[in-house]
Amino acid sequence: MSKSEIQEESPMEVYDANTTAPLSSHKAHHASSIRDVSSYWSNLATSKLEWFAPHVGGASGALSGSLIDGSVSWFAGGKLNVCHNAVDRYCHAPYDRGNDVAIVWEGDEPTSVLRITYDELRMEVCRISNALMFGGVRRGDVVTLYMPMVPELAMTMLACARIGAVHSVIFAGFSADAIADRIQDANSFYVVTASEGRRGGRVLPLKSICDDAISKERCANIVRRVFVFDGKDEGGDKWEEGKEGKHVRFTPLVASMRPVCPCVWMDAEDPLFILYTSGSTGRPKGLVHTTGGYALFAMVTTANSFGLSQQTGPSDPHNMSNRDVYACVADAGWITGHTYIVYGPLLNGLSTFMFESTPMYPDCGRYWDMVQRHGITVFYTAPTAIRSLMRYGDDAPRRYDLSSLRVLGTVGEPINPAAWKWYYDVIGNGRCSVVDTYWQTETGGHVIANLPGITPMKPGSCTLPCYGIDLAVLDPTTGKEIETSPAEGVLAIKQPWPGMARTCLGDHQRYLAVYMKPYPGYYFTGDGCRRDEDGYIWITGRVDDVLNVSGHRIGTAEVESALVAHYSVAQAAVVGIPHEIKGQGICCYVTLVEGYPETDALVKELYLAVRTHIGPFATPDMIVVNGALPMTRSGKIMRRILRKIASSELDTIGDTTTLSDPSVVDELILKVDKFF
Ligand code: WT7
Repeated sequence: MSKSEIQEESPMEVYDANTTAPLSSHKAHHASSIRDVSSYWSNLATSKLEWFAPHVGGASGALSGSLIDGSVSWFAGGKLNVCHNAVDRYCHAPYDRGNDVAIVWEGDEPTSVLRITYDELRMEVCRISNALMFGGVRRGDVVTLYMPMVPELAMTMLACARIGAVHSVIFAGFSADAIADRIQDANSFYVVTASEGRRGGRVLPLKSICDDAISKERCANIVRRVFVFDGKDEGGDKWEEGKEGKHVRFTPLVASMRPVCPCVWMDAEDPLFILYTSGSTGRPKGLVHTTGGYALFAMVTTANSFGLSQQTGPSDPHNMSNRDVYACVADAGWITGHTYIVYGPLLNGLSTFMFESTPMYPDCGRYWDMVQRHGITVFYTAPTAIRSLMRYGDDAPRRYDLSSLRVLGTVGEPINPAAWKWYYDVIGNGRCSVVDTYWQTETGGHVIANLPGITPMKPGSCTLPCYGIDLAVLDPTTGKEIETSPAEGVLAIKQPWPGMARTCLGDHQRYLAVYMKPYPGYYFTGDGCRRDEDGYIWITGRVDDVLNVSGHRIGTAEVESALVAHYSVAQAAVVGIPHEIKGQGICCYVTLVEGYPETDALVKELYLAVRTHIGPFATPDMIVVNGALPMTRSGKIMRRILRKIASSELDTIGDTTTLSDPSVVDELILKVDKFF
């Protein structure tokens, strides 16, 4: 480790693992990339992707529309297919890499490992494409995927892309209610699931959760067909085709299909997928990502942030040392998996890793065991996983040979310096770059990240904007851009970039209201931040009512609506609390309808209500029942006070005399105290 020249006002440590290029040239390159974003991205689009037909308007016309009215489009008129770019092109000249591994899958048990070559992937994706079309799926249809972390998930996403269908992946931790809401919102006629999945030695009954969802009234008349892959193990597949009218046994159907299926020519602006995410209202929004812009952004950011490059020629089987083994251990059900497990790596012709299990199964050495067995060079995970593994000490990682590692990525929330240092020292042995990647479901890919070997690192900062990203820190009250550093404000982006979500499915007004209208002319991230004098960005967290629990985004309003849907709940207010492992935990305050006394059984039901409405990952950390909540005299719940009580910040609770009944505060303080 060597300290670089950069000094901070506070004694901040700076690391520059193997920096090869001066920071000034990186900054100059960034400055030139945002001078003319249309040409910058157009040149990359031409050199990185294979197009069936070029976009209209040349380099200067690649971008049209603006952030002001939310009419952005990239490479319009250009024709391409993402599946062709991520799979087929690597099977033939000039790449000729059909025999190279595209996907390494490691199942729940460390002994179940599959390696799938680009040729095999192409043929299987073609079979799935043909099977989907045979089952009725047509271009433009939304196909809902509720799948375990198995290769078929990535293959089905790619098959949708191939035939022009729009996938909507729902993370396998979501409940039947949440699936039903999303199927209805997207008007999705088709569902793909598996009879079951496995995680940490437990069986996930995915088909039966799906069955619950589609039997709900709001979905019954929408869903036409449910394609069910067999589970990887025996059992679970005991249902009979034909008995359940809509279900199709998918594994044998796929196997019976021709392994050839032409790629549909899609317009660059055709939707590639939708992905639901939480906002500040109770209803999740389906963000729409498009074909050309998303693919380019996924490809370029994967290569830049992890120091990987497009694999342009046939690899030499006798010399594997120049090949990276890239592993992002997220779930493909979130945007991280979409961009950095499936699309980004495959578009670069790399081999990607799919991991079905958890970092704790069969024990807390699982990740490090995988690094050693597979020779992983780039490893990408979330701070919450690092923190939970850190608790078990250094023994587990020290038992394994981690010398293959070169780059360690982190994503999802600010990483606290202690976790950063453990990752850097114990996992990376002080040799690796820790890449802190800031982005969102909406941005499609990284927008702030250090470049390994280029950007000096400061633990806890996601550092500097990515190429082609024009950041701004805005004063939240005036909306004016703060041009000088240091600065503190809200984080925004000043010019369109290809990977940005284009709309909320079926609700463009909502898209405008949430992202474009708060600060006209800017894309608003919803995050607060600080920029230090080196221009480094420090994310301070969401400024809206969105929580970040173990890197999962959960709207407080969503949890509140799950609670008030329960017959006994009169009022609910949900706030975040600091949590050692999860980053943030969920604290719920409720008042009950008259006549329902607070019993243990009832409170248990309320925890369950959140799990069934959203999913187990949204289970509250505490539910505080009280006769009243702190309200202003005009009847508004004072969430600011609830937040202070929940995090035991009693000395900064502020003035409570404006409350209609200030004594409520003392009652709540006593009740919250009991949880600690
Ligand atoms: C929110 C987006 C994008 C993949 C995972 C989450 C927070 C994300 C970082 C980071 C600080 C981060 C932000 C953002 N966030 N990465 N490196 N440092 N905060 O995607 O569910 O869309 O959540 O996660 O608050 O707005 P998401």
